[in-house]
Amino acid sequence: MTAPTTNTLRYDPSWRERLAQGQLPAISARKLQHYYGTGELRKQVLYDNNLEIFPGEIIIMTGPSGSGKTTLLTLIGTLRRVQEGELVVLDRPLHQVSNADLLKLRREIGFIFQAHNLFDSLSATQNVRMALELAEPGGSRRDQTQRSKEMLEKVGLGQRTGHKPKQLSGGQKQRVAIARGLVHKPRLVLADEPTAALDELSGRTVVDLFRKMAKEENVTIIIVTHDNRILDVADRIVNLVDGSIRSDVLVQEAAIVSQMLVKCDLFKHLTPRSLAEMADRLQHEPFETGAEVIREGGVGDKFYLIRQGEVAVLRGSEREQIATLGEGDFFGEMALLTGHPRNASVVTLKDTVLYSLSQEHFQQAISEQASFETEIRNSLFDRQ
Ligand SMILES: Nc1ncnc2c1ncn2[C@@H]1O[C@H](COP(=O)(O)OP(=O)(O)O)[C@@H](O)[C@H]1O
Ligand SMILES: [Mg+2]
Repeated sequence: MTAPTTNTLRYDPSWRERLAQGQLPAISARKLQHYYGTGELRKQVLYDNNLEIFPGEIIIMTGPSGSGKTTLLTLIGTLRRVQEGELVVLDRPLHQVSNADLLKLRREIGFIFQAHNLFDSLSATQNVRMALELAEPGGSRRDQTQRSKEMLEKVGLGQRTGHKPKQLSGGQKQRVAIARGLVHKPRLVLADEPTAALDELSGRTVVDLFRKMAKEENVTIIIVTHDNRILDVADRIVNLVDGSIRSDVLVQEAAIVSQMLVKCDLFKHLTPRSLAEMADRLQHEPFETGAEVIREGGVGDKFYLIRQGEVAVLRGSEREQIATLGEGDFFGEMALLTGHPRNASVVTLKDTVLYSLSQEHFQQAISEQASFETEIRNSLFDRQ
């Protein structure tokens, strides 16, 4: 597996475990392109997208209208053919898979789309059971009915199982569609604006259900949404702009790193926005025990933040240990601030994960802070 090129901020301790266990991504896209139309009308709508999603992750995909979210979702869901690039979904390479395999794969996916096409003549239970009949042909009808009712209960519609769509409100119909998308225990759920039509409480019920499925049953869930009430359910937010993934942020990780940065005296006056930008620019650099990260006398080119692990700071020809630093500590700023050579060496004492920031971005952050301070000073001055 090659390293994805889209994210810089992607360290999550469980990722390393997953890779060590040989766990494969549930979805992996490489240089994925897509076009609509032919001849002169041919128009590219997805450009060079790389993406990796692990089993049990919940991804929220956002982006302006027309940016390609639905196209990407339908490619992953095998509802469109891959034209260029590679796309592997639940271990099947879609760019080279047979039609028979596509059909099998489709049964392992739960679709929840905006236009929910419920059958008007069927009850809520019957609508949900349709999905089970398709996924498990020849299964016991009684068992399928039972499971359909249970799924309706889980989305808060236990009292409405016999109702037909006409007797249900918009939000209730949407929840029937959600139950239908989940009833066959899919390994992958693709949802386009699933909570847009729901009130706060039902939205929360659905989101809690997603989280439970992801964490307890390792179901992978991709939600396209503008509903910022549910952003907190995501492990990662993928932002699509003009057909390209612009940022792919581990939500938890971004929060952890911002907190670490705020604790650095150097950055305590940065605005939350500048901090977030800075966090976005950090490069993830793993080191094994005993690695020399910087050498005394060398030229300072980067600033480092310790995400996990421990390092020793060594000085002089005797390499006297003058400090040990751990999680949340930082080093390397002196040479960047003064322009002098490195005044100490830094060696890892354990396997260590560092985030580095280039000199250019470091200076930029510092100068933004300086201008921020100047701004405050000026505004105070103005008031007097
Ligand atoms: N079936 C189609 N034929 C031609 N163009 C399409 C088709 N579906 C979408 N598009 C175009 O592709 C672009 C991406 O659309 P879409 O994936 O629906 O974006 P989003 O879901 O982010 O709003 C848009 O410019 C849209 O007009
Ligand atoms: Mg769309």
